[in-house]
Formats: sequence, C-alpha cells, structure tokens
Amino acid sequence: MITGGAGFIGSHVVRLFVTRYPHYRIINADALTYAGNLANLKDIEQHPNYQFEKVNILDAKAIEGLFTKWHITDIIHLAAESHVDRSISSPMDFVYTNVVGTVNLLNVAKQHWLHDGGNHLFYHVSTDEVFGALGETGFFSETTPYHPNSPYSASKAASDHFVRAYAETYGLNTIISNCSNNYGPYHFPEKLIPLFIHNIIERKSLPVYGDGLYTRDWLYVKDHALAIDILFHQGKINETYTVGGFNEWKNIDLVKLLCKLMDEKLQRVPGESEQLITYIKDRPGHDRRYAIDASKINRELGWKPTVTFEEGLNETIDWYLNNGEWLQQVTSGAYQQYYETMYTKNKQY
Ligand code: NAD
Ligand code: DAU
Repeated sequence: MITGGAGFIGSHVVRLFVTRYPHYRIINADALTYAGNLANLKDIEQHPNYQFEKVNILDAKAIEGLFTKWHITDIIHLAAESHVDRSISSPMDFVYTNVVGTVNLLNVAKQHWLHDGGNHLFYHVSTDEVFGALGETGFFSETTPYHPNSPYSASKAASDHFVRAYAETYGLNTIISNCSNNYGPYHFPEKLIPLFIHNIIERKSLPVYGDGLYTRDWLYVKDHALAIDILFHQGKINETYTVGGFNEWKNIDLVKLLCKLMDEKLQRVPGESEQLITYIKDRPGHDRRYAIDASKINRELGWKPTVTFEEGLNETIDWYLNNGEWLQQVTSGAYQQYYETMYTKNKQY
C-alpha cells in the first residue's frame, strides 16, 4: 500500500512500482485533498496490478478495512499535508494528518503484522526540514539532531519519532528517509518552482520571500522515487537515510535561471520574465539553508541522482508547457482563493 499516491511524489512512486513490479499489487490509498489528483496517474490507472482506494488516514476503521480487504504486506507512507505556508495558517491540519494519521497507520500495521510471522515493512517518507536550518556551511545527515522550526516540520518530526518508537517498543520493521526539496512534473503550483513556472506563463508577478538568499537542495522527483525503491528493497531495517540532490541553489539564482530558460522557450525578449520578480514579506520562521549529505545511501546502496539539474529543470518546464490542461485544472477553483489570500491580501498569520 502506498499512501498519498495521488500527490506529487506519491504519483511518481506509484508509477515506478506499478510498471517495474508487475507481480506486486499496488494499493494507492489517498483522501484526494486539494493536493491529490487522479489525473497524475492517468497513464497507469488501467494496469491490472494497480488499485485506487479513496481513504483518509485519519479514519482508522477504513485503514483497518483496507488491510483486511487487500492483505496489506508493506506500506510506503507518503500521505501528508506538505506545504509550509499552509502549516503556518492551519497548523492543526498538519497535526491531524501528519501525526495522528501516521499513528493510525502504525497501529493498524502493528495489529496485523506483529504476530503473523511475516516479514513486513513500514517505510515512512519524511523530510530534511525536521533538522531545522543550516548556516553558510555544513550538511544534514542521519546523525543530525532534530530541530524543526515550522508547524509542518514539527508535525513531520513527530511522525518520525512515532515510527521510531513503534520499531523500538513493538518491534515493527521500519525505514525512514529524510529527503530534500523535490521538483518535477505534477508538482502542485503552491510550491516555488511550479508556482513560478505558472506565473511566468501568465506574466504574473514572481513573489520572492524576504531577501531571496534562502538556499535549498533540489532533487528531481524521479530520482527520489528511485531512492525510495532502493530503500524499500535493500535499506537496513530500523535505519534512517538522508536523500538529496547535491544541488544547492539560492532562491533568487534559481528564479533567475527559470526566467532565462522560460524566456527562451516562450520566445520572449531576453530579460522579460525577470522584470516580474517582486520581493515580498518573508515567511515567518523561514529556514535559511538546507543541504543534505547523502553519502550513506550512496556508499551502502549505490544510489545517486541520475538527472542533472539542467536536464531536470528543462524537462520540468517542458512538461508544464505541454500540460496546460492539467495546470489549468489545478489552478482553477479553490486555488484562486488560496492564491488571493496568500499573495494579494498581505496575509497576516
Ligand atoms: P503532496 O501534498 O503533493 O501530496 C500529498 C498527498 O497526500 C495528496 O495526494 C493528498 O491527497 C494525500 N493526503 C493528504 N492528507 C491525507 C489524509 N489525511 N489521508 C489520506 N491522504 C491524504 O505531497 P508531496 O510533495 O508529494 O509529499 C509527499 C511526502 O513526501 C510527504 O510526506 C512529504 O512530507 C514528503 N516530502 C516531500 C518533499 C517535497 O519536496 N515535496 C521532500 C521531502 C519529503
Ligand atoms: O526540504 C523538503 C521540503 O521542501 C518538503 O518537506 C516540503 O514538503 C516542500 O514543500 C519543500 O518545502 P520548502 O518550504 O523548502 O518549499 P517551497 O517550494 O514552499 O519553498 C522553497 C523556497 O522558496 C523557500 O525558501 C521559500 C521560497 N518561496 C516559496 C514560495 C512558495 C518564495 O520565495 N516564494 C514563494 O512564493
């Protein structure tokens, strides 16, 4: 069972597992919140080894029902509220889904798996944000102490702790990976890269938070899915792994690169899109820098990114330019109101 399989990363993981492992039955359990979209899986929805189940992980009975119905053997858990800005305005949503939802899943898994003699795995997909912020130097690794700064990262940190506790206390087999910023096709346009691609297409302003000198380590989403595959099959039980792109960018440099590439692709006058850059009020509690030391997964399991940032960014932009219908569908309706409240009304938290 893959939870959150209709979201951004989850849809890439579902696609990879459904196509690479035809002998596995993949159950995609997703509540279809604003971030979940079955259109992300159109190309594989007819595969005989794929099954979608609309389920909220807050509903323990429904999760229980899935275990009984499908004899779930393993879980890759991605379902979550994932956007930092939304966690600042609605922290309880993050406590419910990310903490309570994860504990619900752990409880059902524990009940079904602990005494059946099987070899099961609860793989929890987490984030590097649980480690807090770095200064100018250094990297997050598996031994970095937790220091979450946003309600989102605090809720993910709490869920990581529960997964660890269920391994220690009940003997559940677990793996946790903490990954850096992903980008690629099907990324919901509330996050930096797809939001800015969309705004450049529409010639809308590009809202850069604070001084724009915040740094993120970007990883192409398909490389994250490949890391999840390797960890699921070969990761050491009850260990954690940090996963990253070896690819740090200051936001403003990344935004300028996006503008340049898109001016070329859209045959606009060079420099036109850069004019759209607007510095706005900073995100409260904004982490200055994330960077990952991914040497453990590289050394032990041979994983490293396969796609350069140049290739990944070009593929991503081309995907959005070729999938206008998808972009239009996800930016109509409730998105308009989110955008208005977040960016036009000088939001107070
Ligand atoms: P996303 O917001 O795109 O997708 C989340 C999915 O979870 C959606 O399909 C949504 O419908 C589903 N969902 C939300 N609440 C649910 C609930 N209560 N019950 C069932 N389903 C629910 O998120 P994403 O960016 O794909 O992230 C997936 C996971 O990876 C998250 O756990 C996130 O913390 C983690 N992660 C994300 C990144 C990143 O850069 N996006 C990096 C590292 C880790
Ligand atoms: O590091 C992994 C995390 O990366 C994941 O756990 C999260 O789920 C994912 O959302 C992402 O978090 P960030 O906060 O780093 O991503 P976001 O795309 O929201 O922002 C990236 C950077 O860009 C950050 O420094 C804030 C800035 N930003 C973002 C938006 C949406 C802007 O300057 N303007 C914006 O409008």
